[in-house]
Amino acid sequence: MTWLVTGGAGYIGAHVVRAMVEAGHGVVVLDDLSTGDQARLPQGVPLVQGSTLDQPLLASVLREHAVTGVLHIAAKKQVGESVEKPLWYYRENVEGLRVVLEAAAEAGVRRFLLSSSAAVYGMPDVDLVTEETPCRPMSPYGETKLVGEWLVRATGRAHGMGTVSLRYFNVAGAATPELGDPGVFNLVPMVFERLDAGEAPRVFGADYPTPDGTCIRDYIHVADVAEAHVAAVRRLTDDPDGTDLILNIGRGEGVSVQQMLDVIGEVTGLDATGEVTPRRAGDPARVVASAELIAQELGWKARFDVREMIASAWAGWRLRHPAP
Ligand code: WQD
Repeated sequence: MTWLVTGGAGYIGAHVVRAMVEAGHGVVVLDDLSTGDQARLPQGVPLVQGSTLDQPLLASVLREHAVTGVLHIAAKKQVGESVEKPLWYYRENVEGLRVVLEAAAEAGVRRFLLSSSAAVYGMPDVDLVTEETPCRPMSPYGETKLVGEWLVRATGRAHGMGTVSLRYFNVAGAATPELGDPGVFNLVPMVFERLDAGEAPRVFGADYPTPDGTCIRDYIHVADVAEAHVAAVRRLTDDPDGTDLILNIGRGEGVSVQQMLDVIGEVTGLDATGEVTPRRAGDPARVVASAELIAQELGWKARFDVREMIASAWAGWRLRHPAP
């Protein structure tokens, strides 16, 4: 069996590819290299450079590699950018997915996994977000992920495909320094960037209704996220017909921005005292997963804690940004 991983040269995709190869699966990657990097791929994994919007290309990759399952990870993923360019986000994330699904259905692929996001929930007002918590996305990015889940589920039911959508919470860390997050769009790399510039990390609001006033999230190590994909692949392999799942990937443990800064200070040995700035628009006070359903369905549970995420992210950051 061979699995097509779209977006397999990206930060999360490359971790998934690595875990899939380690678990003994055959993999082929489709990536447009807009943010991905071929150097992230293990030796011997074929890369097809191209767009998910290119249906003839997809048809030929599925046929030539005799693909039996698809992990669709390729997507645009910046919330702010999606507010400015909603048409582009719908094209890349929804139309791109629709094309991949159509090619997969026509090629007789019976297993499909979608990268989704906690962004589908918006501002959930519950302590632990379950998969039953109502979805009210707050950005075009979150909307494209929710529409994507619907599309995947409907296609799976109509075309006899087993499907899994995985809703990632806040992904951080790196399995090896080379695979670290190259971006600066999330809390951990944004804090590292400020520290390197000799500036205080910013805390976007300390007046939230949380114990220390800062926002609480569910941070999850990217290597754990990758293992969740391997567990989903196992399930899709064993039982394609009976699999129709939407699952959170989180640790089920809330960590505040202030607690993250404390651990970053300890791990880096730098002064990570935050500077409180006004709230960032659209930030919910607390988003923490219930990780019960995925444990039940796939037997998966996170292994790494926040300290391991930060230490591995820091090693990756230092590789790209040598100490001044
Ligand atoms: C985390 C917390 C910030 C930077 C977003 C998307 C989500 C997913 C992950 C997907 C928040 C605070 C941040 C800083 C800060 N994206 N913060 N100072 O907003 O929870 O989730 O990224 O693929 O869909 O919504 O993640 O890392 O931006 O922020 O205080 O310099 O850190 O306010 O509370 P977020 P984040």
